[in-house]
Amino acid sequence: MSGEILQLQPRLHCIAACVPQGARLADIGTDHGYLPVWLLQNGKIDFAIASDINAAPLEHARRTAQRYGVAARMDFRLCAGLDGIAPEEADTVAIAGMGGETIVAILQAAPWLRQSDRTLLLQPMTKAELLRPWLAENGYCIRQEHLVRDKGNIYAVMVVHPGNSAAPTAAEAWCGAGLLHDPLYGDYARSRVRKLESAAAGLRSARSADSALLASLESDACALRKKIKEWEDANGT
Ligand SMILES: C[S@@+](CC[C@H](N)C(=O)[O-])C[C@H]1O[C@@H](n2cnc3c(N)ncnc32)[C@H](O)[C@@H]1O
Repeated sequence: MSGEILQLQPRLHCIAACVPQGARLADIGTDHGYLPVWLLQNGKIDFAIASDINAAPLEHARRTAQRYGVAARMDFRLCAGLDGIAPEEADTVAIAGMGGETIVAILQAAPWLRQSDRTLLLQPMTKAELLRPWLAENGYCIRQEHLVRDKGNIYAVMVVHPGNSAAPTAAEAWCGAGLLHDPLYGDYARSRVRKLESAAAGLRSARSADSALLASLESDACALRKKIKEWEDANGT
């Protein structure tokens, strides 16, 4: 058994904190395997499945597990999404560090995730504004959402369960419905407005701008600026 303890970066630490004690975890797109290895080392889980669509990252995860002495308590699966994982094998599924569209595609390909209560921990690197409405339209409910700052960026971590939820407003799609009390909300929301504004500016300068898309970006930016103003007034900032 290795005596070395893995140090986790804030983004992964935030996800780890959302994993229920004793969970049967599947980490999809594990890459380096840091999340399951840290959870095993810290006694939060007893066993984990680490999967990846690519062989090299999965090998990386295997090496991390060996280095930190937890390889015997992990299973490594080379597969797309949850294709190589049976429903009874995992009650908690982490899908982190990927684009929102990839996360949606992985969830679409595994409709059994909705069939019994299961915890999904989703952390999109991009397109969270697509993921949130998709979850509401497809039988999932975001029970909690957290923001975490890591190397200058702010990431949203979603704790999702099967269940009904109302469709998010435009401001909620971009910034989450449950994040208003998060200390990072103001910085997160302002960075999301800047993203919308720069996408709209890019479209305006294009020769053949998609006018419907431009109108939608401008309307979302307007809704979000209004929400930020309300939040600033309520928080005295
Ligand atoms: C940037 S890494 C994220 C690693 C880790 N989950 C994290 O959050 O730090 C993304 C990983 O997802 C894997 N990946 C991408 N699409 C996938 C899919 N459809 N199914 C499984 N793994 C996928 C990639 O091979 C890569 O190793």
